[in-house]
Amino acid sequence: MLIRKPADIRPSEITSETNYVNRRDFIRAGAIAGGSLLAPAAMSAVVPVATGATLPDVAKSAFSTSETPNSFEDISTYNNFYEFGLGKDDPYRNAQDFKPRPWTIEVEGHAEKTGVFEFDDFMKPFDLEERIYRMRCVEAWSMVIPWAGISLADVVKHFQPTSKAQYVAFETLEDREQMPGQRRRSLDWPYREGLTIAEATNPLPILAVGIYGNAIPNQNGAPIRLVVPWKYGFKGIKSIVKIRFMSTRPETSWNMAQAREYGFYANVNPEVAHPRWSQARERRIGASVFASKQNTLMFNGYGEHVAHLYKNLDLRRNF
Ligand code: MTE
Repeated sequence: MLIRKPADIRPSEITSETNYVNRRDFIRAGAIAGGSLLAPAAMSAVVPVATGATLPDVAKSAFSTSETPNSFEDISTYNNFYEFGLGKDDPYRNAQDFKPRPWTIEVEGHAEKTGVFEFDDFMKPFDLEERIYRMRCVEAWSMVIPWAGISLADVVKHFQPTSKAQYVAFETLEDREQMPGQRRRSLDWPYREGLTIAEATNPLPILAVGIYGNAIPNQNGAPIRLVVPWKYGFKGIKSIVKIRFMSTRPETSWNMAQAREYGFYANVNPEVAHPRWSQARERRIGASVFASKQNTLMFNGYGEHVAHLYKNLDLRRNF
């Protein structure tokens, strides 16, 4: 992913693909500068954490893929969560003391029901489901993850958005004490994401609270994070504290950081290359080092459920 360029850096100073490797060490040392793709960090002696509490009554879902899920170790030690560092194993290493309770979620904006809800009260009206989904990161790697979560469409309907609500915006916790990565300007904190109301009420997106039937690890976005399987992984905002129903398109973190490279829609699309690399193929994490990359599917293979949402949209312009 790109690192946000501070306002005083000119576009001409943005890092090119050819020098990002050198830049990476500089960025990892904490001196944030122009945009740079982070190469996956070496997986050095990472020991997976114990799983969280077992979740009760998780129903199976017809939306799950039959592909083999990644191991818990892959899923919980190879992460993007810039609030805990920029390397792939930084979230695992740095999020262990993070406190996902007590936790509140504020619902605000154009809806009949709004307010600040304790996590358990927020969850109470909804049924837990297992959704085994492919996740395709914009960096051209992918995983298969057995999430447990609640339907975002159910959540949206529960709060009764008014006709003014055209978008749903989400925000991550902002807490520099607990999230050391927020002491740097790697992104404009808090992390923000958003969906159109049509996307948010599609049956596929979930608010995930678990993995492999247990409470979601901190590094994956405890206690609750968004999962939108037909979009690049960066839409899957973690550790959500705010949900806002809006009449206008919300600002979103990676789009704010580098609009030329990360669009609002961020639909997985093998035909629209990232300006600095192809999106045609992907590396499945955990596959043999001898395995070839696999073809990336339009809408990450979920087109039958979501293609209709974009039938009047030019997906090259609205990437
Ligand atoms: N949410 C927050 N708050 N901060 C982040 O840095 N990274 C995003 C997304 N959600 C991110 C975030 C990116 S780039 C990806 S690919 C996914 O989380 C990774 O999710 P995972 O680590 O659970 O696989």
